[in-house]
Amino acid sequence: MALVPMRLLLDHAAENDFGIPAFNVNNLEQVIAIMQAADAVDSPVIIQASRGARKYAGEAFLRHLILGAVESYPHIPIAMHLDHGNEPATCYTAMRNGFSSVMMDGSLEPDGKSPASYEYNCTVTREVVDVAHAMGVSVEGELGCLGSLETGEGGQENDPGPGGALSHGRLLTDPDQAEEFVAKTGVDALAVAIGTSHGAYKFSKKPEDEILRMDLIIELHKRLPDTHIVMHGSSSVPAELVQVVNDNGGEIVNAYGVPVEEIQLGIKHGVRKVNVDTDNRLAITGAIRAALNDDKSNFDPRHYLKPAIAEMRRVCESRYQAFGCAGQGGKVKQVSTHVFAATY
Ligand code: G3H
Ligand code: 13P
Ligand code: ZN
Repeated sequence: MALVPMRLLLDHAAENDFGIPAFNVNNLEQVIAIMQAADAVDSPVIIQASRGARKYAGEAFLRHLILGAVESYPHIPIAMHLDHGNEPATCYTAMRNGFSSVMMDGSLEPDGKSPASYEYNCTVTREVVDVAHAMGVSVEGELGCLGSLETGEGGQENDPGPGGALSHGRLLTDPDQAEEFVAKTGVDALAVAIGTSHGAYKFSKKPEDEILRMDLIIELHKRLPDTHIVMHGSSSVPAELVQVVNDNGGEIVNAYGVPVEEIQLGIKHGVRKVNVDTDNRLAITGAIRAALNDDKSNFDPRHYLKPAIAEMRRVCESRYQAFGCAGQGGKVKQVSTHVFAATY
């Protein structure tokens, strides 16, 4: 089945009441870990690359990493998605490089830092939808800015650190505006702001209702039952992964993420794509630190990269299971309207 538009996978997820983790990649090892996990549990796959990843690996390497995944696992449906496209031009270069899905994040200005106006967001998102849909590519839009309801600070794209003070109005997706935004732009999926942010330091304690607004997801799904909701900043930051990093010389303190049960609640209410990057970063870093400590004389990179793949694979498998997509990979049916035309 190979590369498919993300919309095909999200439609299938909605019809069968499950959610799909979208894992970020920057390198070969991460792609291998995701594909091994998906193969082991028969899950559809969403791989995503940020602008930072495209800068790190380069367009050609990323393109060929996708090709490698597709060729090695032809039975697994894979969507390749651009994470946080900052302006239409970025989305177009991703499409040219074979991505089957793009995010036009018009909640922020192209600098990825300053909140943008609603009107700007509608205009750029609509423009990208028009072009992408003509090519069979799916589009995710975002309404509301990611950030902490505890501190009132927005997180910047590609940077979990504070991005300046924002009102709760900005940090929460407005349901009336969401209805209008979806109608005006025609997006396939809508990323929402409910108090999550990128990175390991999302909350100062296990989050409760007032700082993680799952009720807003429930309201948005009632208003927009046919829209696929996306949760960003959805790493769970498991204490055991943090512990391995810290036991091996790392320093990560007071890190709290989004509990898996909260994501499962979201999935019951229309969440179909769940963005996870940080948990895999923690798994990889912990494994590498532990392997280097275990055998200080070994300088073969495979000595520490093999356990890194294994630990990331464990995280991916566990999210595939928890979000209900295990066993669904083989059930995705490619229909003619969804055939993705891009060629390599
Ligand atoms: O958007 C946030 C993701 O975790 C990607 O982060 O831009 O550092 O690759 P990155
Ligand atoms: P985490 O930092 O919680 O993994 O979020 C990743 C993300 O939202 C990528 O867009
Ligand atoms: Zn994100």
